[in-house]
Formats: sequence, structure tokens, C-alpha cells
Amino acid sequence: MSFRTNLPIQFAPSILTANFGSLAAEIAAAEAGGADLIHLDVMDGRFAPNISFGPDIVAAVRAATSLPLDVHLMIEEPERYIGAFAEAGATGITVHVEATRHLNRTVQQIVEAGCRAGVALNPASPIESLREISPFVDLVLVMSVNPGYGGQQFIQTSTSKLRRVRKLLDEFNPTCDLEVDGGVGVQNIGDVVRSGANVIVVGSAVFNDERPVAENLALLRQAASER
Ligand code: DX5
Ligand code: ZN
Repeated sequence: MSFRTNLPIQFAPSILTANFGSLAAEIAAAEAGGADLIHLDVMDGRFAPNISFGPDIVAAVRAATSLPLDVHLMIEEPERYIGAFAEAGATGITVHVEATRHLNRTVQQIVEAGCRAGVALNPASPIESLREISPFVDLVLVMSVNPGYGGQQFIQTSTSKLRRVRKLLDEFNPTCDLEVDGGVGVQNIGDVVRSGANVIVVGSAVFNDERPVAENLALLRQAASER
């Protein structure tokens, strides 16, 4: 049974696995290859074990592309930095339900900063924590790997979780995007789309040494369209 949504399927390459030595070229290749968004994984070394980058890199990416910037804050107390990432040029800012004490206020802060608001769930976090916030957001992100690194294995129970989140959103916020993040490739993108995800974060499946970015994106788009 398919839970495929009518919302447009969007591809969000994550720069976490891109070659930072030629980031502008990597982003240009993703844009030319038909990416819909650029996904920026911000990590602070506390909420997530890795440290990635901050608002200055977001500003540099803003200058390098006209695509919407999908900023994923895997940081503790993200409310401290909403203004800085909005100022840097974020189109959407997604915070983790596990990382902020007053989630409704933090979401309001994102909206007041003029950005699309998203909330994210770690793999072990129950979907019930979305219930009260779901009417207030534009996007829900389901982590299908544990935060920290690109190239990890997809957690298989994530497809069931996506279906249950899509069902919850169809009841409380039907136009809300459902994003999946982590371990997605040609081998499973069909499953995640049929499970209701419509914004697909892809890192190592796009930025790798096997094929050019545009070819990787074309393969993913093809695999996603298979019923
Ligand atoms: C984990 C990161 C990764 C990244 C996607 O903290 O959020 O999920 O965006 O990387 P891949 O697609 O290689 O798992
Ligand atoms: Zn992410």
C-alpha cells in the first residue's frame, strides 16, 4: 500500500558530504542537475557528535545559489541562533524537538524571522511529540540515521515511521512537507517516497566519486518515480 503524497517531490542535496574545497562548484552542479533545495546540516558537537559549520557558510552558500536553503540545526538550544541563520539567508530553518525546551516559542521565532519553520525528530523519538506543534510548521523532518555524519546506513524502521507521520500530518496539517534525512539512495528512495516523504535529503548519494552530481540526481529522480 502506498502512502505517496500529492505534494511535489523535492530533492535536497546535503552539502555535508560535498567537497568543501570547491563548494561553490558543487552547489552549482547540484543546481544545474535539478536540485530543488540545498540542505545544510549544522552541527555543534553537542547535540550531534560532529561539528560542521555555522552562519558564515550558510551566507557563502546563499551567495552561490538562488535555490532555497534548507537549514537543519542539529544543535542544542537552537533558539539562540535563529536570527543569525535567518540573517545569513536561510529559507527554512528546522530545529530538533529534542533540542529546545520551548518548541512552540522557537517555531514562532523562526516564523517571525521570515523563514519557513521545520521540526525534526531523531530516530528514537516518538511521533507523538509532533502532535501539538504540527499545525504550526511548514515541514517535518524524520531522521533516518543518527545525527552526525553522511554515508550512514538507512534505519529500516524509518519507512514505517514516515507513514505514521504522514498520517498524522494528513489529519492536522495536510500541506506540511515531510522530509527524510539520512541513508537515502537509489536502493530505497522509492520506498521512502511511497511511505509519504516528499522532500528527500541526499548527501553521499549525490556528492561522491562514482558519478557526476547531475547523473546521481537523475538516477535518484528516476528511482523515485517508480511506482
Ligand atoms: C546526518 C546528516 C546526513 C546527511 C545526509 O547528521 O544529516 O543524514 O544530511 O547524508 P547521507 O545522504 O549520505 O546519509
Ligand atoms: Zn539534515
